[in-house]
Amino acid sequence: MYFDAIIFAGYEALAKEMALTPIPWEWHHFPDQESYVRVTGHVPSHVNILCGLNQPDSKLFSLMLLSDALRECGAKHITLIAPYLGYMRQDTRFKSGEALSSHVLGCVLSSTVDHLITVDPHLHRIHSLDEILTIPSSTVHSYALIADYIKIHITNPLLIGPDLESAQWVKTIADLLQAPYVIATKERHGSTDVSVHVPKLSAYTGCHPVLIDDVISSGHTLYQAARSIQHPDLAIVAVHGIFANNAHSLLQSVSSQIVTTNTIPHVTNAISVAHALIEEIWRSRCDSNARPQD
Ligand code: R5P
Repeated sequence: MYFDAIIFAGYEALAKEMALTPIPWEWHHFPDQESYVRVTGHVPSHVNILCGLNQPDSKLFSLMLLSDALRECGAKHITLIAPYLGYMRQDTRFKSGEALSSHVLGCVLSSTVDHLITVDPHLHRIHSLDEILTIPSSTVHSYALIADYIKIHITNPLLIGPDLESAQWVKTIADLLQAPYVIATKERHGSTDVSVHVPKLSAYTGCHPVLIDDVISSGHTLYQAARSIQHPDLAIVAVHGIFANNAHSLLQSVSSQIVTTNTIPHVTNAISVAHALIEEIWRSRCDSNARPQD
């Protein structure tokens, strides 16, 4: 069985790998930047949207318009497959007067779609997506996929997390690989101003250091961590590669092996979440069919 989906620009390759059947639609912006959407293909009652929420400001309102158009065309249940969920790092008010972005995102998505499937959301002070959503959601984890990649491509790995928030990925992957790990400490002074302190690695001579993080945005967290490790064969592996501005070239200056999953399309994508996502769509479709209907 194939699943029908609206595919956002950039996600065609992942959609193909997932064997999703694209529903024809139009999406463009007027000269004043307002969005226009129109669904031109057949819409089944249970429909999917594949749209990663990197660069979210330009996509979120279009998603709301799309949801309206899909429902007008007969959709009764909309599943949003957002391999990357933006706005999750501002999960508390760090300074008074700030907006609680993750909660606002949760409200918007809950009133736009009926189910969310995502990959490794940045959950730190929030422990479950249920804390920000009023719709059901499913999370796909990339731990095993990343562990498989490292097992095949890197001998004798030493996993290094650049900050406390990366610890959940680093520890789980280290566990799967039975490999050693260390967690560094980070202080963020601004978007591109961070300092990272990596503990002494003298006990791990002969190991191949692998920096692991969930998100590469400006790249400065991993850049500073790499500078303090200073190893000629340092590898960098991240779940979500946003690579804002010059992040990619910045990281290329400290590592010749930079790898991400394909939750956000980028030349560094070498680990695919396609099968894990399609399995999750199947699982949630079976669950919703099993649930009593209103
Ligand atoms: C932070 O909490 C995340 O785990 C990443 O470390 C962070 O998002 C990386 O951001 P940047 O690449 O801008 O330093």
